[in-house]
Amino acid sequence: MARCRELAAMSEMPSGTLRTYLSPAMKRCYEIVGQWMESAGMRVSVDPAGNLRGILPGAEPGKRVFILGSHLDTVRDAGAFDGILGVVMAIAIVENYRRKNLPFDIEVIGFAEEEGVRFGMPFIGSKALVGLLDEQMLFRTDAHGITVAQAIRDFGLDPEAIAGAALKTTPLGFLEFHIEQGPVLEAEGEPVGVVETIAGQSRASLKFIGSANHAGTTPMHLRHDALAGAAMWIATVERLAPLNPGMVATVGKIDAYPNVANVIPGEVTVSLDVRHANDEVRKIACQDLRLGATMIAKDRGLKVEWANLLDQKAVWLDEPLIQRLQAASPRTLRRMVSGAGHDAMILAPHIPSAMLFLRSPGGVSHHPAESVKPKDADLALKIGYRFIESMSAEYK
Ligand code: GLV
Ligand code: MN
Ligand code: MN
Repeated sequence: MARCRELAAMSEMPSGTLRTYLSPAMKRCYEIVGQWMESAGMRVSVDPAGNLRGILPGAEPGKRVFILGSHLDTVRDAGAFDGILGVVMAIAIVENYRRKNLPFDIEVIGFAEEEGVRFGMPFIGSKALVGLLDEQMLFRTDAHGITVAQAIRDFGLDPEAIAGAALKTTPLGFLEFHIEQGPVLEAEGEPVGVVETIAGQSRASLKFIGSANHAGTTPMHLRHDALAGAAMWIATVERLAPLNPGMVATVGKIDAYPNVANVIPGEVTVSLDVRHANDEVRKIACQDLRLGATMIAKDRGLKVEWANLLDQKAVWLDEPLIQRLQAASPRTLRRMVSGAGHDAMILAPHIPSAMLFLRSPGGVSHHPAESVKPKDADLALKIGYRFIESMSAEYK
């Protein structure tokens, strides 16, 4: 818990936590987490995509590896535990096994980017690990016009080498500890749960284009107000999403231009995030929302441009690993659907993957009030130890 809180102080904001992909705050975080990994007996490196990686060699180094980890980046004004807890717990597991000569190596990965804050596109770290990054992505820019390629260079890495971040062999599996980030476990009085599926996600960026003009002289009926059009569409998103049971849709980011009180907004860019366990339902909802934006724009003499940023399928996690977690647990594990996205959803189609959720007090996450109960972390760690013991017995 103390380690998570210590990392929360490494931030790009003067108060509150924000740590984005390849930022100076991330560099400081890597120095500290890298030291923890080394003290736990690991060889530490940063791969060409910027992921922090530590290896605890087993009895036959390089022969087989099991991966533990989660992400080290955060949203803006974040809590201390989303992602971070999974990396810190992975190191705690390695500390427990460092002198035991396991029949496989353990690799702990602190993924460099899962939230999509800096470049609008999430999962850069885990996608690099399974070789899914395309060249195009290197030319995306952040709010300051810096490309991904340049950010990689500024961090002291080589963007041309990014393919080298990909795994060379298939690991035995991947286990991610993560806070639930929702209210279900708490409501049911359960300290931990196991994830069965992770909902699919779409992300898009929409630009409403109208005409900026004088706020005092332009009569209401002669305006093309991009912000009023965007506002109407945002209300449509909130109204349409619940027509599909289980769907959540969010407009979390808005940029208005020129963004001053006495000018009619000429251009507005908004984000869209849509999630559902059924990919078909999610895709159709996105088509409807796109049609809605076009109709609202037409009605108001605006133009609208839509850019798809993510179409991430829902995934099922690995049943044998789920059962192994269950066998390692003193209590029956509640099976869960995760509405949040996780690195495990990128790895799952390529590597047997599992996730153990820890109860989130108050169901709060992506917020500074995010927390974890120490006794839940203790139980999760015990399950983790027994899980590694059972893997070890199998591969001896
Ligand atoms: C990642 O935290 C997400 O947005 O689900
Ligand atoms: Mn998150
Ligand atoms: Mn997370």
